[in-house]
Amino acid sequence: MPEAKRTPDPRNRIVSGRAFDEDARIEASVRPSNFGDYIGQDRVKENLQIAVEAARARGEALDHVLLYGPPGLGKTTLAQILANEMGSAIKISSGPLLEKKGDLTAVLTSLDPRDFFFLDEIHRLQPALEEILYPAMEDFRVDLIIGQGPGARVHPYQLNRFTLIGATTRAGLIMAPLRSRFGIVHRLEFYTPDDLEKIVTRSAQILGITIDKDGAAEIARRSRGTPRVANRLLRRVRDYAEVRAKGHITVGVARDSLAMLGVDEYGLDDIDRNLMLTIIQKYSGGPVGLNTIAASLSEEEDAIEEIYEPYLMQLGLLDRTQRGRVATALAYKHFGFDEPRRQHGLF
Ligand code: ADE
Repeated sequence: MPEAKRTPDPRNRIVSGRAFDEDARIEASVRPSNFGDYIGQDRVKENLQIAVEAARARGEALDHVLLYGPPGLGKTTLAQILANEMGSAIKISSGPLLEKKGDLTAVLTSLDPRDFFFLDEIHRLQPALEEILYPAMEDFRVDLIIGQGPGARVHPYQLNRFTLIGATTRAGLIMAPLRSRFGIVHRLEFYTPDDLEKIVTRSAQILGITIDKDGAAEIARRSRGTPRVANRLLRRVRDYAEVRAKGHITVGVARDSLAMLGVDEYGLDDIDRNLMLTIIQKYSGGPVGLNTIAASLSEEEDAIEEIYEPYLMQLGLLDRTQRGRVATALAYKHFGFDEPRRQHGLF
């Protein structure tokens, strides 16, 4: 795939290196580059389209945008679409990759008028760097320190009017001073099976994969409401279809392949299942603390909280309570256990 295909605008570049393995390259190739091709998130999309149209008509930079929600729902994609729709370049980095103040000021001072700066995982930006963002966002100013020690001087530097797109999976960790500097704030929701089916069908078309409507619906239904998962499962099911079914994805091929991948009817994988079974079997259904679950599974607390729990809660299998995580009555049913008599009045 030529370089230009990944980044539609030649001025766009990845500021801090991201590994582009084969899957990531394909993922990027099916990513929509304008609102017309973007499926789902209708309310967010409509609001952003209005903001873009108004900013363009006024000849101004778009207001700063904060996008939050579970991973894989298209925050990066939307940032790239916004830049494309505004006819602007976009520079991309993430909170943990920016280590020193100079890393951040270097990006900010390099932005042309109306350029976009996409800052992923903004909740992981160091506090000292977050302080730099405040005047940059509000007054388009950074204070450059020239020299060292007693002779050091502060030089206010006027930035071009740019748009910051902040993205986070943890809106609760964004403190008020930062949050209040975003003029546009949207939460991305899990996608409906119908929208995911359209996404799978569109991606299949781009990748030259033949797939039945029912095959696309089957993959969509088991994709945890997440386009990134849908596109990944499509690639794995295609592998299976090429080896076992002459390359054509029917509903039967999709089912057999997904079963082999360990993805169940609800789209749950081994880690989801282990998480729920740990709560049900080891901790009598809960309440049990996140740190205990993480230690039991040898998984990171952050990953459990950001990746696994949101979907399990969306399905109604898991509750987060003051006293810890609890398996719901539906979870007992789904995993084939009799519901215990609870002392806690939780059901
Ligand atoms: N691929 C990934 N996300 C998508 C979306 N929202 N619309 C169309 N294709 C996509």
